[in-house]
Amino acid sequence: MSESFDLVVIGGGPGGYVAAIRAAQLGMSVACVEKRTTLGGTCLNVGCIPSKALLQSSEKYAEAKHGLAQHGVKLAGVELDLPAMMARKDKVVGDLTKGIAFLFKKNKVTHVAGTATISAVGEVTVKAADGKASVLKAKRILIATGSDSMPLPGVAVDETRIVTSTGALALPKVPERLLVIGAGYIGLEMGSVWGRLGSKVTVVEFLDRITPGMDLEMSQQFQRVLTKQGMAFRLGTKVTSAKPNGASVAVAIEPAKGGAGETIEADVVLLAIGRRPYTEGLGLDALGVARDNRGFITTNEHFETNVPGIYAIGDVRPGPMLAHKAEDEGVVAVERMAGVKGHVNYDAIPGVVYTWPEVATVGKTEEQLKEAKVDYKVGKFPFLANSRARANAETDGLVKILADAKSDRVLGVHILGPDAGTVIHECAIAMEFGGSAEDIARSCHAHPTLNEAVKEAALAVAGRAIHV
Ligand code: FAD
Ligand code: NAI
Repeated sequence: MSESFDLVVIGGGPGGYVAAIRAAQLGMSVACVEKRTTLGGTCLNVGCIPSKALLQSSEKYAEAKHGLAQHGVKLAGVELDLPAMMARKDKVVGDLTKGIAFLFKKNKVTHVAGTATISAVGEVTVKAADGKASVLKAKRILIATGSDSMPLPGVAVDETRIVTSTGALALPKVPERLLVIGAGYIGLEMGSVWGRLGSKVTVVEFLDRITPGMDLEMSQQFQRVLTKQGMAFRLGTKVTSAKPNGASVAVAIEPAKGGAGETIEADVVLLAIGRRPYTEGLGLDALGVARDNRGFITTNEHFETNVPGIYAIGDVRPGPMLAHKAEDEGVVAVERMAGVKGHVNYDAIPGVVYTWPEVATVGKTEEQLKEAKVDYKVGKFPFLANSRARANAETDGLVKILADAKSDRVLGVHILGPDAGTVIHECAIAMEFGGSAEDIARSCHAHPTLNEAVKEAALAVAGRAIHV
């Protein structure tokens, strides 16, 4: 016997579960198939949420150890209780994933546990953990199967000594020496966590800069701040192998451009060189679902693949691999199925690295504007000159606004600083509304706030910042 649905969503991550709930709100009968035992996908189980829980806890530890004396708060005997820190993280994850199950019930979304294969157009076969198969009939199928970490030849992941982000979120003790391969989002966030807890962190990056794709000036300042915190960088360097060697791991590195190699010893190696779309076992080849040369499922603007009735959203299709991008695509995909108008503005998707200070970015970088030969103006304001940042003793970083030279329309904003990931949102909304730097500058900002640095950077676009 098979059950029939208007929509079957494959994958219960932020793309899939949000799409399922929105589709149910729009009146569709919806099933969501998830092979993990809990809902929430990479993001809730082994991504955004556990990493942010550990970033928060480790920041508190580092602050208690090194940051409070300047505020006149004296602490003695600060100790790390790693099992308690990990247990708190696990509880946050457990509570939030159960919350999605509750939302499914509330919205009458059928949660089907098991691994899905698209057996035919309009048909999904689900294999449960006990091996039993069931068939779901679907008017439409939405693929939201996400991504997994990219492997590197010569570096065999065992998730204990050579780990991906998943292992790095659950290390049983603080490694003395942590070697991170890749200076991107995961490497720098997880490197920060373990660095704060006491590891000596070395980051090996293939390119001659960290966080590729980010505005170069911000990347360089970011690297300086991380270096000040004790993180070591080996840029322009590639890892050729990592091999367990007694109690440690021997990591062979050499210049990216070629030349003499050397070996670095580490206790734990974190492989974080990017993620790739995950489509294993879906049956896409048999159906002829088109993918690009990196394996991402390609779609039209309605998120429909070349096979009518099969759609894709989130990490499995091209674009930034971010939870909020997956969510927004999920919402728009099902709204369009229902004939409701919706859009994703790819020019105004914020990206945040949740280190301390944070780095937040939305829109174009200076390098992208130069390449596109766009005439632009720049306004910058350092947090050193922001009264709230001074009061908080958190003065590293700056706000940088890029605006069109003629129209003054905001084209990109880049913030390195305290709570940058929260502060950036007024800029994202200004951009969504087609706002100008002057619009931001003339909006009344409460004093004293970190957001005043945004207002001052907007004033600086016109050369009239007040406090520098
Ligand atoms: P996923 O969340 O990957 O969900 C896909 C789901 O599909 C999975 O649960 C998988 O089990 C399931 N699935 C796959 N195949 C099948 C099948 N055949 N049958 C049934 N189920 C299947 N992004 C942010 O925006 N902010 C952050 O702070 C952030 N931090 C991150 C930290 C880490 C360590 C990592 C690894 C990622 C982080 N990300 C962050 C990225 C974010 O997790 C992803 O962009 C997001 O989860 C993508 O959502 P998705 O729904 O497309 O896929
Ligand atoms: P990434 O793409 O952010 O960074 C990978 C880094 O590895 C790059 O700097 C790249 O140049 C480097 N690299 C590639 N091959 C290499 C090699 N052979 N040797 C050395 N360096 C190499 O990928 P990462 O950090 O794995 O994260 C994957 C994705 O997950 C991110 O791009 C992001 O989309 C998402 N994510 C988002 C977070 C957030 O929003 N805060 C946090 C964590 C992950």
